Amino acid sequence: MHVLVTGGAGYIGSHAVLLLLEAGHKVSVFDNLSNSSPESLRRVRDMSNSAPELFIGDLLDSDRLDSVLSQTKPDAVIHFGGLKAVGESVEKPISYYQNNVVGTLNLVSAMEKAGVKRLVFSSSATVYAESTQLPLVEDAQRAASNPYGRTKLHIEQILEDLAVSDSSWSIATLRYFNPVGAHPSGNIGEDPQGIPNNLMPFIAQVAVGRRSEVQVFGNDYPTYDGTGVRDYIHVMDLAQGHLDALDFLNTHTGQYVWNLGTGSGTSVLDVIGAFSRACGRQLPYKLVERRPGDIAEYYGDPTTARLELGWKAERGVEEMARDMWEWQSKNPAGYPDYDLDGISEE
Ligand code: WQD
Repeated sequence: MHVLVTGGAGYIGSHAVLLLLEAGHKVSVFDNLSNSSPESLRRVRDMSNSAPELFIGDLLDSDRLDSVLSQTKPDAVIHFGGLKAVGESVEKPISYYQNNVVGTLNLVSAMEKAGVKRLVFSSSATVYAESTQLPLVEDAQRAASNPYGRTKLHIEQILEDLAVSDSSWSIATLRYFNPVGAHPSGNIGEDPQGIPNNLMPFIAQVAVGRRSEVQVFGNDYPTYDGTGVRDYIHVMDLAQGHLDALDFLNTHTGQYVWNLGTGSGTSVLDVIGAFSRACGRQLPYKLVERRPGDIAEYYGDPTTARLELGWKAERGVEEMARDMWEWQSKNPAGYPDYDLDGISEE
């Protein structure tokens, strides 16, 4: 198949592009490079001996989107492109609604014009209401608690309405839990801009000496060791879930939702422990106040993805930490500053 991947130069996107190329698919990437580097695609090309075509563009540029969709005529789209920092979304809600919601509306409009009606959408477990019983199942109550989560919830509802209005659409909404880790080669990985908001990339930067210690946001939660518990999922498992969803859409129309998680929770202290074992030294940390907006724990129930997609997470936290350390130790400063030589750009 020919798959167009929005945000394909990014963290999760580049891992999905690699698996798509390795599976023999033709891949076009649409990315504005606002939070990603074409270096990731250069490395994907070298690893897979197949080059994705990069179209630099913004989801808010509907003319550019229309022209790329009509030029590439993909069989399906995987939509990673969007802003994803919870804290930033509280400060800049308009930017989040524009980029995530309007950007998605532009995308599905361009797809409709080009007659492309297979879509895999990157959603998030953050759409679930906080008070929901664990493990989280797909039909649990949704009630996002921040603008970022609300953009994901609005987009899910837009796609539900689209599928009702036109039964020829095939749409997979994938709710990620906490994506971490990297390709085991260490060639591609997570390269956050500025100070990492998320736990694992922050720990990785402590491990390579870019940060002095991990701040543990609260150890007075009602969890097994008092620190926050989350369902961390290896980015390779997550990427595979997208290929399995794509295969499912080849033979199914309508709109479907699946949790992509391991089904079990791991505490902050246990993640620090796993990373300490991966890098071979006890990493320094300090117990500090809770972070506003955090909840004690959440983890997903991945049963429907197993039953309907034949997908399940294969990798545990030790492997997540090992692979993240492989990436960070090989790339202590992340991807080098980039130029566009050697990346085909249309
Ligand atoms: C994990 C745990 C923190 C940093 C967010 C988004 C979610 C998804 C993943 C996009 C919590 C603790 C963290 C640190 C810490 N993003 N922590 N020290 O908040 O579960 O989820 O990222 O889809 O939508 O909400 O992830 O990694 O920030 O936090 O103690 O320096 O680690 O309190 O318990 P979170 P996280």
